[in-house]
Amino acid sequence: MTARAQLILANRAFLDHEAPRWADSPSSASSGGLLAAVRPVIAPWDGRSGTTWIGVGMGRYDREWVDERGFEILDTPRGPLRHRRLFFGSAIWQGHYGEVANSFTWPLFHLVRVDLPRATPYYPAPVLPTESGWHSFVVVNRAFAEAACEEGGAPSCWVHDYQLALVPGMLRARGFGGPIGFFLHIPFPSLAVAAPYLEGGSRERLRAIVEGMLGADLVGLQTTDDVARFVEAAGELCDARPTAGGLSVGGRLVRVGAYPVGIDPEEVLAAAKRAKPVTRVGMARELGLPVVVGLERGDFTKGIPERLRAIAEAYRRGVRFAYVGIASPTREGVEAYGALEVAIEREAARAREAAYWVGCPFTQVRASIGWDDVVSLQRDADVVFTSSLADGMNLVPLQAAVAQSLRPAGERAVVLAGVDAGVAKVYGGDGSRGLRAVDPLDQESLVAALVEGLAGQPARISDAFIAEVHAHDARSWGERFLADLEESC
Ligand code: G6P
Repeated sequence: MTARAQLILANRAFLDHEAPRWADSPSSASSGGLLAAVRPVIAPWDGRSGTTWIGVGMGRYDREWVDERGFEILDTPRGPLRHRRLFFGSAIWQGHYGEVANSFTWPLFHLVRVDLPRATPYYPAPVLPTESGWHSFVVVNRAFAEAACEEGGAPSCWVHDYQLALVPGMLRARGFGGPIGFFLHIPFPSLAVAAPYLEGGSRERLRAIVEGMLGADLVGLQTTDDVARFVEAAGELCDARPTAGGLSVGGRLVRVGAYPVGIDPEEVLAAAKRAKPVTRVGMARELGLPVVVGLERGDFTKGIPERLRAIAEAYRRGVRFAYVGIASPTREGVEAYGALEVAIEREAARAREAAYWVGCPFTQVRASIGWDDVVSLQRDADVVFTSSLADGMNLVPLQAAVAQSLRPAGERAVVLAGVDAGVAKVYGGDGSRGLRAVDPLDQESLVAALVEGLAGQPARISDAFIAEVHAHDARSWGERFLADLEESC
């Protein structure tokens, strides 16, 4: 039987209600890799069984849509979804989301190879949360654990990502009846690289996070490198011992494995078939220029300033192309993101000027664009330029491969991806199949990769790469994790 998710716990709700009920306008879907990956393993709710999703109520009008316990049945393209929202006051939310999740854990966990706060002028040093911030994190995690325990029938529970890392341990402490799975969508850090930021109380906070994760029966990470770093940290911080299939923790087996996430190729293909070309691409074509595209959440892990600097340098050397860069606003109000905006503005201004002197259109905007426009840009680009400093997976290269499959092989794009992104580790970044790993901190090699990419070098997206993206899609990822989870108890 195909495994289906019973209970999903994620910080993000499946969607946020940003319009009042009476307005009858569509609610905005949440963004980010987690949602894209998890959607395909949702089983429609038939009134008694199916998937239940528990997330935080972040939408402006969420309360209008739910009953007094936060429940509603959402109408989704995959059928009805039983959905519960948990609501928190602004102080708790600021501590949990602003302090612990996104000013401490998120920047810390991306320290896999390079001390990024030292290597760039804008990447924030992970900040030790205040006592009250940490308390808020505990409160939110506890609310999720309690909500899961209120579900009857001992379902299997799949907890997602760093914001809820304490939940598996809390579920175990409460005697949760079913199997407990945890998946980390972001990288797991190297203790050696993160060492400068683990002084004071930070090491203890990281230890508590790892201990929370170890409450699961199965811990999934993106890559085998993440698994190795997690196993090492669990040993050093929590006395967990490597054993066949995972870790031994206080005499209990915690299975640990690499489960690289995938995308839903059908969703991308459907959009690629119907989406119109965006105006800026049309203009570039009229000028006879190739198009380079950069799309992502405007996050400090994405290497956007480094990419813009490489683009400016290519223009200065007389290379001609149009650039369309779109960074969607994310985590607004989280202080750690402030310096990034300044860095992007500065580099974008330089690149714009360099583009002007060679008569090329250059765009770098901060905007949320619709799904069809995202896929349209991925389909029509000649170079898909991602440059993450570190990334759990980075789904953009995978989406681009599928979107470009509609084009003849000889006209497809070259995709660039940061060498420390999961996608480069999992799919191989030697460039022979159209995916080339680049080091965003090595300016000269970034420029060279861009220039070669514009010439279709080392190779354009190949049928083999596209087939692999299809084979490792989100559905098979979820099913594999859930099947292993069922077996783990
Ligand atoms: C990444 C994280 C997700 C997160 C998403 C969007 O993909 O792994 O857990 O949901 O970014 O971030 P946000 O803070 O808006 O939920």
